[in-house]
Amino acid sequence: MTSTQAIGVFDSGVGGLSVAKKIREMLPQEDIIYIADSRYAPYGNKPRQFIEQRSRALSGFLLEQHVKAIVVACNTATLSAIQQLRSDFTVPIIGVEPGIKPATLNTRTGVIGVMVTTRTSQTEAFHELVKRYSENVKIEVQACDGLVEQVEQGDLTSNTTRALVERYVRLLLDKGVDTIALGCTHYPYLIPIIKDVAEPGIEIIETGTAVAKQVVRRLSEENRLTSKKTAGSDIFYTTGDVAVVEQIVSYLWGQPEKVLPCQI
Ligand code: DGL
Repeated sequence: MTSTQAIGVFDSGVGGLSVAKKIREMLPQEDIIYIADSRYAPYGNKPRQFIEQRSRALSGFLLEQHVKAIVVACNTATLSAIQQLRSDFTVPIIGVEPGIKPATLNTRTGVIGVMVTTRTSQTEAFHELVKRYSENVKIEVQACDGLVEQVEQGDLTSNTTRALVERYVRLLLDKGVDTIALGCTHYPYLIPIIKDVAEPGIEIIETGTAVAKQVVRRLSEENRLTSKKTAGSDIFYTTGDVAVVEQIVSYLWGQPEKVLPCQI
């Protein structure tokens, strides 16, 4: 059995495009439906119940579009709401988590940094993840308020963005980290600045590729990879301002894209 239904992807905003892009590269024939919950971004300073409620609404919307799987392309939503989503819905639901495990395998100093949103840093699931890998490695957690907002504005290079990134990365470097895991799907868009401010030899770990591989694995286990031979389509929705989001989606996706409105 194969399935020509689309893969649904959601995030609080445009950050999840960093994951969707890896899925697109790995599965060129699959259709992808992406929804950015831009009206409510950022999630990082919102209560857990709110994120759960939005995650449920976005998943419900994607299922109305008949998706065969849902990718929660947001660490904050994954760590706050994935258990709830898995008990509410029966399609495969794939989440993202900060790459703490690969970071612990990479470190030589024995100290790693994790950049996350404030909400992520407060979730129980994140605390458990940190605890699981803390035995032999020191894990320094840095909440990075303001970075999601910069990426949401498509501002990847200004002095303001640079100053924010520099402050957070410096705090981690001062603690002796040699590896930094990016625990938010917006942050891969800031890698050029992070690399710039980090010292040479600092490894940056992002999880987009690992998540895309997990999507391939889950769909092939369920015999639900498409049998289509033609290129898959990309459909983008937002709960926010369509004209604004369209510009930023096109910029981050690397080509002009249309964005459709979604009122949920
Ligand atoms: N991309 C989301 C994440 O991975 C950002 C959450 C937010 O909107 O603060 O955590």
